Amino acid sequence: MPSRIPPMETADSDPGPKPPQRVFFALRPEASTAARLHGAACREALRRGGRVMTEDSLHLTLAFLGEIDEAAVDAARRAADGLSLPAFVWTVDRLDYWPHNRILWAGASAPATPLLALGEALRIALAAAGLAVDPRPFAPHVTLLRNCPGADGQILADPIPWTAREFHLLQTASGESGRYRSLARWPLRGGGRGG
Ligand code: 2AM
Repeated sequence: MPSRIPPMETADSDPGPKPPQRVFFALRPEASTAARLHGAACREALRRGGRVMTEDSLHLTLAFLGEIDEAAVDAARRAADGLSLPAFVWTVDRLDYWPHNRILWAGASAPATPLLALGEALRIALAAAGLAVDPRPFAPHVTLLRNCPGADGQILADPIPWTAREFHLLQTASGESGRYRSLARWPLRGGGRGG
């Protein structure tokens, strides 16, 4: 009786359409900012419990696209290509807690105008490209702890400056929860080092 041999993949095999990717635009903190945010996260986790986000996964979502196909990812890239916004510095000076998703997050107590402007410009460009962005109002936050039982809001005695020189299109890496892969990045105007 002939043994059953599975068909071999060849170079000519059509891999078929790629599965949808979970993607979003985000800021990533520079190393010194990430280290301080992670330090705050570890301190809070010791006091309250919760799962600490890894230092290299810290980010601030600017516009969430969700699961989209390759063509939509390309459209999102083109939408971002058309933007020209300035680099800026904003300050993380507040920790707060959302009971509905048990997240402890870091953010700013005063609205950071250039940050709001970047999120708004991206959303407008994506909508103009026909892409559906999460319609909820932009609430800039950096998730520090997940599954946190509870916390009160607090102002940081030692605020953390965050220099935004670029933004990324990130993909949630499958099978590695909490890991994000940068598909592309765009510089913000005047954000070059030394410039
Ligand atoms: P969170 O940290 O508050 O969970 C990757 O999932 C990133 O996209 C996370 O920063 C996550 O926010 C954010 N995100 C997930 N679902 C979202 C949604 N429906 N709208 C906006 N942001 C979302």
